[in-house]
Amino acid sequence: MAVTFVPNTPEWMADPHASYRELREQDPVHWSETLGHWVLTRYEDVASVLKDERFSAANRAPQRRWDRPTTMVTADPPDHGRLRKSVRHRFSLTSVNAQRPRIQEIVDQLLDAVEPASDMEVVQQLARPLPRTVMLELLGVPEPTPSGSPNAPTPRVAEPHGGSSAGSRLRGVPLAPGTAMPSEAFFQEAIEKHREELTDDLLGELLKAETGREMSPEEVLDTAVILYGAGQETTAKMIANGLFQLLRHPAELEKLRGNPGLIDSATEELLRFDSPVHAITRRATEDVDVGGTTIQQGDKALCVLAAANHDPEVFHNPNELDISRANNPHIAFGTGIHACLGATLARVEIQIAIATMLARFPKLRLATDDVDWEGSFIIRGVASLPVTFL
Ligand code: HEM
Repeated sequence: MAVTFVPNTPEWMADPHASYRELREQDPVHWSETLGHWVLTRYEDVASVLKDERFSAANRAPQRRWDRPTTMVTADPPDHGRLRKSVRHRFSLTSVNAQRPRIQEIVDQLLDAVEPASDMEVVQQLARPLPRTVMLELLGVPEPTPSGSPNAPTPRVAEPHGGSSAGSRLRGVPLAPGTAMPSEAFFQEAIEKHREELTDDLLGELLKAETGREMSPEEVLDTAVILYGAGQETTAKMIANGLFQLLRHPAELEKLRGNPGLIDSATEELLRFDSPVHAITRRATEDVDVGGTTIQQGDKALCVLAAANHDPEVFHNPNELDISRANNPHIAFGTGIHACLGATLARVEIQIAIATMLARFPKLRLATDDVDWEGSFIIRGVASLPVTFL
């Protein structure tokens, strides 16, 4: 019987890897009529498409309010490089290392607030507020007042990691509740304030690029909005998914408790094992052979990173969590020119959040094994994560 891909059902949300395995083994370059996309599940095919300049990232419709891409996310060269260049050094290893003490301080403060209790809900009390505060501070915008929330919905700009706008037939795919796009008005106001007095933060950096005519005013606004969005939901979901998987694997948890120096490789393994960003899309600009199948000009390809990261051709025992895995070339952050700009920042936030939880709560354990998953085959994460630590 021909294999089909039916994501987003409750069974699929609980365990998507069974369907990825079936596709990878039986139909690795699979045409999905429902999604209007080729679905790619082999590591080699996914990585090669993402590195292939014959595939365009400019295929996400809502960004076209200006009739052209205004952020790096949906721009092809040469605009892509120009839009990424203005901000990339703010996400370099040196810049992110300088933020470590502040990230640690935010985590400590969030955990101080929960410590008097004997339990907490990780998503609301740690995973979401951490990246949100980090991104607001990095951009240099204030904590919003209730009337000027940056989370008010204005779904006009393409979402950073594919999102519901990944392609015409993917539109309407539900993302996680609470993943509303940030308010443009909030950022417009912040930009106007920054124009009055240039500051040494990410918004200041974008405005310098505007002054130097490297970016237009609309590119500045859209980039601010996209960076705020890109840095949050993904990192929040990864912290929650990562802690959940670690707590479900007691031997690995003990290994990490016994050797905290493993936090870097543990983070890489958790990203490989259960990253929230499952898939991203591309459009062929000419006919391209992918794994023996011709993807025709204009066709769209869904690159399933989560399936690639469990490909046995690349990862030994891919369905086992091994926090000391030696060879781990995962592509949870994508690959090629659009590889995640915030990967170093995300890694540091995940490392500090998880390491601090383990150090502060020696008896940390899941309050329940039975978690609900939210999101879709684009972005998927645990909806809530109750834990106890007494
Ligand atoms: C665990 C957390 C994260 C994951 C799993 C993740 C994943 C990804 C992936 C897979 C891509 C490639 C998209 C594509 O090729 O179409 C991407 C791109 C991007 N990410 Fe992340 N991301 C995370 C955190 C962050 C953070 C903290 C930021 C900071 C602002 C960020 C900003 C971006 C941007 C701006 C792009 C577009 C880069 C470009 O098009 O050149 N991400 N991310």
